[in-house]
Amino acid sequence: MDLDESHRPVLDSQRLVLRALEMSDAARVAALAGDKRIYDVTLLIPHPYELKHAEEWITKLNGFWERWREDWTMAFGLRLKSTNELIGAMGLVGTPKHKRAEFGYWLGVSYWGNGYATEAARVVVAFAQQELGVNRLEAGVFDGNEASMKVLRKIGFVEEGILRQKFLKDGKFVDDRVFANLTAISRA
Ligand SMILES: CC(C)(COP(=O)(O)OP(=O)(O)OC[C@H]1O[C@@H](n2cnc3c(N)ncnc32)[C@H](O)[C@@H]1OP(=O)(O)O)[C@@H](O)C(=O)NCCC(=O)NCCS
Repeated sequence: MDLDESHRPVLDSQRLVLRALEMSDAARVAALAGDKRIYDVTLLIPHPYELKHAEEWITKLNGFWERWREDWTMAFGLRLKSTNELIGAMGLVGTPKHKRAEFGYWLGVSYWGNGYATEAARVVVAFAQQELGVNRLEAGVFDGNEASMKVLRKIGFVEEGILRQKFLKDGKFVDDRVFANLTAISRA
């Protein structure tokens, strides 16, 4: 695993580089994450998504990066190697006490359907398991978000169940489909 000049991990796949976001990425983050189609299937992304939201998020991430080895909480910006464009983000929220982390991601809409999320997710899962020592990686997906469920299944996550009406989103209850990937089983 490579580290950047601030000792944060830099991950690499065939077409992508995954590294910490910088404050200079804020306008791009706001433009990408501001698409309503991303808001519709996520819980924590505001809409409309303003520059200040991106700046606040990157500031928060900078705090997380100071303790990534202890807390296992971080988010990577995903960049195309070919152009260095930022295309999305993927992150972990850790609970090291239980060797567990939650996994989440979004990609700019114009980059959907090229296998980028699957490619990045494989690298982040390997990093979480091999470098951090995560055992249980989990992800919750809004019912109906077929693209995200497909990404998770392609990289070995198993659906464990449906938490019915877990969220109230824009006045409608949404079921949460829970997926997980267990290192202890995949290595057994
Ligand atoms: C989920 C997301 C990251 C997927 O990114 P992506 O780079 O397009 O994903 P991939 O191309 O690696 O894989 C998506 C798969 O879903 C399939 N897919 C896409 N839309 C689909 C749909 N409506 N129904 C069924 N399958 C669908 C694709 O064909 C692909 O499968 P394939 O490789 O067998 O062709 C992207 O759609 C996104 O950012 N969505 C909004 C945010 C979000 O959902 N985040 C996750 C919250 S749990």
